[in-house]
Amino acid sequence: MKSKIQDLLSDVKDQKLKEQYTQLIFTLLEKGYFPGLAGVPVVKSGISNIDGKNGILTYRGYPVQELAENCSFEDVYFLLLKGDLPLREEREKLKTQLLQNKQLDYNISKVITEMDKNLHPMYMLSASVLLLEGNDRKCFNVDDYNMNIQRAINLIAKLPSIIGVFRNKFPHFARDNNFDSYAQYCLYAFNSKLAEDETCVDIFEQMLILHADHTMNNSTFSVRAVGSSKASLYASISSAINSLSGPLHGGANERVINMLEEIGTADNGENYIDEKLANKEKIMGIGHRVYRTYDPRAIFIKEKILPQIFGEDSVVEVDDELKNLFEVAKKVEEVALDRLSSKTLYPNVDFWSGLVLKSLGIEPSYFTTIFALGRLMGWTAHWVEHMEVKNRIFRPAQLYDGFSNRHILVDPDEEIASVSE
Ligand code: COA
Repeated sequence: MKSKIQDLLSDVKDQKLKEQYTQLIFTLLEKGYFPGLAGVPVVKSGISNIDGKNGILTYRGYPVQELAENCSFEDVYFLLLKGDLPLREEREKLKTQLLQNKQLDYNISKVITEMDKNLHPMYMLSASVLLLEGNDRKCFNVDDYNMNIQRAINLIAKLPSIIGVFRNKFPHFARDNNFDSYAQYCLYAFNSKLAEDETCVDIFEQMLILHADHTMNNSTFSVRAVGSSKASLYASISSAINSLSGPLHGGANERVINMLEEIGTADNGENYIDEKLANKEKIMGIGHRVYRTYDPRAIFIKEKILPQIFGEDSVVEVDDELKNLFEVAKKVEEVALDRLSSKTLYPNVDFWSGLVLKSLGIEPSYFTTIFALGRLMGWTAHWVEHMEVKNRIFRPAQLYDGFSNRHILVDPDEEIASVSE
């Protein structure tokens, strides 16, 4: 069988593609379908790329670490949307557009302030994004590239305001404030004091950049699947936010902090992990569908960001609780690497990101909204890209395994009964 497949793929010269196609053919022969579309290419895209074996993530060809270290949010967003880094005037123009469009319509902010305060911020966010459609009644006209770019920028501009209005229950949140950058305005929505500190803004900006795009993950797939029906940008992004809220996707960073708190002390780390593994439970923040090594974003956070927080000259106040959580995390990492690296399971970005956000004074229930703020760059870039391709509505197939033929029989007591052939 293997040699037949090799013959079939003899024209495919790229060794990686050949391996991917071989795996897909084996899956199809073994299972008859592709569960969850795992490994199936569904679009062509030039936005980001992952080499999972070697732990490399690039945006438009640039390694994510280089972008996080040297570029601003505006640089990276311009790069993702348009394909190249901006010239100085282009960067300034984008910054102005983001900051000038931050204001929400009063009626929309009023609705947001009245939402139940117990609503999870991710659901608040997805509902609020849909409300923005009210200001863009031509949203079903998705064929104009320039209009789509403007829409994407307008949408991103408003997200920190949505979060700020909801968190503060104040419809005019940040209405009269001026900010030096989009990243500063984002951090302001969570912590107005730290937003005055340049280093904290830099850290926050790096976190947004690290999360900006990640190929065809579950939420980006949602953007493209919903977008393929020519539903509006708001409908696509709202779906993506819902997808990201799940614990197997972006919701993991919040759960990592819960886990570290539950473990309590570094001494308990080993027993906790062993018990979870014995019960076949997953350790939050560990493992990835694509990376077979340490997630490069997690390495960046561990090596470049955490030392600024937990090192000697910390940029924030690190209390005993936070210090302890860091110790617990280091222990969990050590035990997880020992027990799971042989299964190619390593810490992912969510493992360390929660600690950074907590040290910036952000409540865990808002962690995933920050992931969303960063990923909006990628989501909107994918949406704009998708509107440019020769589109066909996404419509995968299923392998039906239900009843074959059943009929309704009405008995004399007029009760409905059913028979199968
Ligand atoms: N802890 C312990 N074991 C894990 C694990 C984890 N976090 N993640 C995967 N595994 C194990 C599975 O139990 C399975 O073992 P088995 O083959 O003995 O049954 C094997 O690794 C493959 O797991 P699977 O769930 O098929 O991997 P996946 O590629 O579908 O899932 C994730 C990837 C990210 C969903 C998964 O690793 C996970 O749930 N991680 C925790 C949540 C998380 O951190 N999510 C954020 C992702 S950025």
